[in-house]
Amino acid sequence: TNLVTILFHLGEMATITQSLDEDTFQILAEELGYKLQIVSPEDEDRELLESFAIDLEAEEAEEDDENRVARPPVVTVMGHVDHGKTKLLDAVRSANVVSKEAGGITQHIGAYQVPVEHEGEERRITFLDTPGHEAFTAMRARGAEVTDVAILVVAADDGVMPQTIEALNHAQAADVPIVVAVNKIDKDTANPAKVMQQLTEYNLVAEEYGGDTMFVPISALKGTGIEDLLEAVLLTADAALDLRANPDKAARGIAIEAKLDKGRGAVASVLVESGTLRQGDAIVCGTAHGRVRAMFDENGDQVEEAGPSRPVQVLGLSSVPRAGDSFLATDDDRTARQIAEKRDAIERNAAQARGRKRISLEDFTKA
Ligand code: GTP
Ligand code: MG
Repeated sequence: TNLVTILFHLGEMATITQSLDEDTFQILAEELGYKLQIVSPEDEDRELLESFAIDLEAEEAEEDDENRVARPPVVTVMGHVDHGKTKLLDAVRSANVVSKEAGGITQHIGAYQVPVEHEGEERRITFLDTPGHEAFTAMRARGAEVTDVAILVVAADDGVMPQTIEALNHAQAADVPIVVAVNKIDKDTANPAKVMQQLTEYNLVAEEYGGDTMFVPISALKGTGIEDLLEAVLLTADAALDLRANPDKAARGIAIEAKLDKGRGAVASVLVESGTLRQGDAIVCGTAHGRVRAMFDENGDQVEEAGPSRPVQVLGLSSVPRAGDSFLATDDDRTARQIAEKRDAIERNAAQARGRKRISLEDFTKA
């Protein structure tokens, strides 16, 4: 399994390979051109690779690490077209922008955090602000599961529609708990009870009906029910998940979006999953590497560090990573560059192998 974990850190194969046994995996790796250079003890990169393995083992041991502290849930908004995903994200956000000092201009960095007063405690929720399950599915396909809770938006005047079902299927397949936002309740034609009834067919049973799914009536347009929705997200997260991470170690996480900016170079929005990312850290993100030259939050304010579940925009990467690419902070520039180069080589090999022949996993398991 070391083989698998090492590869996980070098490439994007982990989700496909994790279920395979080592022998099968070796055949697969060879066929795909991975060659066992990756794990061979003679390999000159052995030390580097082993350092990942150690790193990963340390992370696994973290299960009962006392250093873990509560982190905010990461939330994705999903639902049928026009049911109000964007409006909801705007409503959640503007409810907080108001409390900010004048002059604070919100930036689109792919995610934002909002504070929530919950049972007398100050909590936070991280929203991924690219709505739609395409983003969710694309990230998942690449092994990046960053969503802790999904908000399923269903317009109360329209009811359950094809993309509602698609969205909930994705969330359920990923084992992500769902909170249902029954939207557009300001409309005369709204029928929230019908939405509840329709969704019972998909195992989303409201508490009123004896289930454990929270349904929150809202109007994203008027801003009603937003606080209740945020509460429901926290209640659901607390009931279903143990959201904790160790902030006292090198950061790792996921790129949520990235672009090339004329003046600033590669600009990547990343979500820290564990550890703390600091200005000046050497990092590798996908096949990009570099040093964190500067970091900004969703308000455009510069930040010095970002802990678990915190989204930040990072400047200083050598190239533009892709959404879903994993990042990690390394001890030095050299290590970051080496990992980036390895990942790049692996990707090239895999791309070449794909071009040469198509091999199904099924063929392999038979072999
Ligand atoms: P896509 O991104 O196209 O899938 O749509 P969406 O789910 O992001 O929906 P969006 O937020 O763009 O809202 C679609 C339309 O519904 C817009 O005209 C909104 O003004 C309207 N709308 C959204 N929420 C509400 C609401 O609570 N009440 C009413 N009356 N209209 C709403
Ligand atoms: Mg939208």
